Amino acid sequence: MIIYKKVIDISVFIESTRRINDSIGFVPTMGALHQGHLSLIEESKKDCNLTVCSIFVNPTQFNDKSDFEKYPVTLEADIALLESVGCDVLFIPTVREIYPDNNIDYYDLGLLEEILEGKYRSGHFQGVCQIVSRLLDVVRPSIVFVGQKDYQQCMVIKKLIQIKGIDASVVICPTKREFTGLAMSSRNVRLSVDGKVAATAIYKSLLFVKESISYLLLNDVKEQVETALFKNGFSQIDYVELCDATSLKPITYWDSTTPIVVLIAATIEGVRLIDNLVIS
Ligand code: PAF
Repeated sequence: MIIYKKVIDISVFIESTRRINDSIGFVPTMGALHQGHLSLIEESKKDCNLTVCSIFVNPTQFNDKSDFEKYPVTLEADIALLESVGCDVLFIPTVREIYPDNNIDYYDLGLLEEILEGKYRSGHFQGVCQIVSRLLDVVRPSIVFVGQKDYQQCMVIKKLIQIKGIDASVVICPTKREFTGLAMSSRNVRLSVDGKVAATAIYKSLLFVKESISYLLLNDVKEQVETALFKNGFSQIDYVELCDATSLKPITYWDSTTPIVVLIAATIEGVRLIDNLVIS
């Protein structure tokens, strides 16, 4: 695996490789890699001739400074994991490389920025767009591989690509789960053993929604989920929402013909977790 730290160096490499290689797969990450990330690399290797991964803990997408400071950094282990799955190129820029000046672009994300994560993490998706836009300019991928766990982020990245008018597609890969059902996340390392067990209540709740939505009122479903989460030790629930799977507009009643997505964001042991399930 070739490791680049400077924009200029990886740009020269990409320029030369694009002449012979038009299928570049890209997996943007913030490191602290787990099986979920590796599955994206594996998917990219299946579909593309060259796979590029980036590791950059992007300060502009953290609305909570302490979350940024606590974000796990495990670079050596990450490099070993990427090598084990045959990633071709790793880009690990510094903040100065990525943001050399104070020019910050604004992206009109419409509803996507007003609801769910957009509502609870003000400015988060602008930060995601700033970094992903910069990385797309440098890596110039044909396909970007993203994980379904960050459902809204997947839609934001699709919208960003549309706004930028570039010729890249987005492949959304299924959420990787522990055998308990807990969605893999870099933040899980901050949970205690008991916390990890209790946190499986999120996935159980998603399954409960899927199973009960056809015979319970939406408000009752949400209420039962909230009660179950609090009972399992969650201290805060930001949302339990059912949305149209394509537009992400919250729905008020369930019509079995339209695919929907159930999304949950809740905090346990001071760790904010998100998860979702598509019901089609
Ligand atoms: O999902 C993430 O890890 C980040 O939001 C991303 C897409 C790498 C941008 O920093």
